Amino acid sequence: MVRRRRMVRDYDPDRPVPPEVRERLLEHAIRAPSAGFSQGWAFLVLAGPADRQRYWDVTATGGPPDPWLQRMGRAPLLVVVLSSKDAYLDRYAEPDKGWTDRDESRWAVPYWDVDAGMAALLMLLTAVDEGLGACFFGVPAERLGAFRTAFGVPADHRPVGCVSVGYPGEDDRRSPSLRRGRRPVEEVVHHGSW
Ligand SMILES: Cc1cc2nc3c(=O)[nH]c(=O)nc-3n(C[C@H](O)[C@H](O)[C@H](O)COP(=O)(O)O)c2cc1C
Repeated sequence: MVRRRRMVRDYDPDRPVPPEVRERLLEHAIRAPSAGFSQGWAFLVLAGPADRQRYWDVTATGGPPDPWLQRMGRAPLLVVVLSSKDAYLDRYAEPDKGWTDRDESRWAVPYWDVDAGMAALLMLLTAVDEGLGACFFGVPAERLGAFRTAFGVPADHRPVGCVSVGYPGEDDRRSPSLRRGRRPVEEVVHHGSW
C-alpha cells in the first residue's frame, strides 16, 4: 500500500466517494499518533458541489483556472486538515506534562502540524486501500484569511493542507517535481552517526 501511494491529480467527476468510504477515511485519520494524545486536529469535509466550489473560489490565486485546478476541481471530496496549537499547549499544561507556562520555545518542532500531517497521510493511504486516488496540497498563504472567513474557521485553528479524494480520472498528471528522482536510502540514512 505504501509503495502504491502516489498523488492523484485528476478525478472521475461522475463517481462520488461512497459515504462509508468517506467515513472510513476520517475514522482512520483520527487513528494517527499525536503528542500527548492531544489530538489537536480538525477536519473540514467538503463533499457537496457548492462547498467544494467555495473552497476553490476562495483559495484561487487569480487568473483563469489552470490545468492543475481544472483537474483537481473534479475531485468529489475535499478534506481540509487543520491543527490547533492551543490544544497542544493546553494538553501539555496538564499535571502529567507540567508545561504550565505554555512556552512555545519548549517545542522543538510544531507537533500540532506534525500530527495533522500524520492524519493526512493516513487518509492518503486509506484512499489507496479503497481503490481511490488522493492528493495532499497546501492552502496558499495569501488565501488563508479568505479561507477562514468563508468557512468560519476559528482563529485557533490553522489549515495544514487539503486532501482531495476521488476515483482517478483519465487525465492524471504526475508532478514535474518527480523528475528530481527519489533520493536513495544511502543518501538520506545515517547509521550510528552523521
Ligand atoms: C506538504 C506537501 C505539500 C504539497 N503540495 C502540493 C501542491 O500544492 N500541489 C500538488 O500538486 N502536489 C503537492 N504535493 C504533492 C507532491 O508534489 C508529491 O508528494 C511529490 O511530488 C511526490 O510524489 P508522490 O506523492 O506522487 O509520490 C504536496 C505534498 C506535500 C507532502
